[in-house]
Amino acid sequence: MLFQKSAQSMIALLGFMVAVASVHAADPKLANVTILATGGTIAGTGATSTTTVGYTAATVGVQTLIQAVPEMTKVANVSGEQVFQIASENMSNEHWLTLAKRVNTLLAQKDVHGIVITHGTDTLEETAYFLNLVVKSKKPVVLVGSMRPSTAISADGPVNLYNAVVLAASPDAVGRGVLVSMNDQIHAGRDVSKSNTTMVDTFRTPEMGMLGYFQGGKPLFYRQVVRKHTTETEFDVSSLTALPQVDVAYSYANVGPTAIDALVGAGAKGLIHAGVGNGSLPAKVRPALSAARAKGVLVVRSSRVGQGILARNGEANDDELDFVVADTLNPQKARILLMLALTKTNNTKEIQRMFYTY
Ligand code: DGL
Repeated sequence: MLFQKSAQSMIALLGFMVAVASVHAADPKLANVTILATGGTIAGTGATSTTTVGYTAATVGVQTLIQAVPEMTKVANVSGEQVFQIASENMSNEHWLTLAKRVNTLLAQKDVHGIVITHGTDTLEETAYFLNLVVKSKKPVVLVGSMRPSTAISADGPVNLYNAVVLAASPDAVGRGVLVSMNDQIHAGRDVSKSNTTMVDTFRTPEMGMLGYFQGGKPLFYRQVVRKHTTETEFDVSSLTALPQVDVAYSYANVGPTAIDALVGAGAKGLIHAGVGNGSLPAKVRPALSAARAKGVLVVRSSRVGQGILARNGEANDDELDFVVADTLNPQKARILLMLALTKTNNTKEIQRMFYTY
């Protein structure tokens, strides 16, 4: 408790020092980076310094996060906005639209060179892919979180946040799509996913690989994405206030049609089937999906497996069923692309093109 008290008074003192320092004009030699805070564990607090599970996410404000890492002032002119303060399991389409519009407004300003978004790790990969499809700028957008709360011994948030600001300020990060920066690694928003419930190295891009590393506080890139993103996409959310309802139905041994029928009954405009293996359709699921399609619901076959290409006309005759296949997108990311696709068209051939493009 004494340690925590002295840590808190240290943060307060640092906060005062940074506040005084930041009164001075921005350094024209440094890039201007805005941190948009949304909550999560990086803003979380635990009862003790050894609490790494059972803590409270989304309690620490953006200015405190900034004040806890004064080294950032040496690499960028940093400002912060608290867009919302939530645990990311509660992220919604409305949150995404608010965040995307704020990002696009800021990046249209000449005096904003990059953006960092602090975010809970549970849905971080989804927000990263959504923004990868709707941000209309080549400027760096970097999502960052942490697996340990800010009060924990060896909390990973401060160094993750520092790296994310360095990346958002880096000319090397321009034009690479939305990036995820965690644990000294740089990942593409399209391909990264959370792979472990609690470990600090949880964000992985198992087969296609990360884009690069941090070493000595510098981002080093070794690969770039080939799929279209940001300014190259056909999606524009600037005038949208809602997104079409798209849900995911998960398959497993002994599965029946109940979930699919319920989702269609609740008004889903699109369904992602998280199939077993190469998106196989269990005998009791196929008729339910066909019936959904007959009612005008767009059906996309994805896989619960997590890696690999979902082959069109492989485990099912997609041409005959008028289904779409998700290519390499996992179910939660396929849902995002289908939602945006449905803001443009209901044509399955057009939507299949989009799944082979983004
Ligand atoms: N509630 C989870 C979230 O906000 C905590 C996980 C985390 O942020 O690492 O995503």
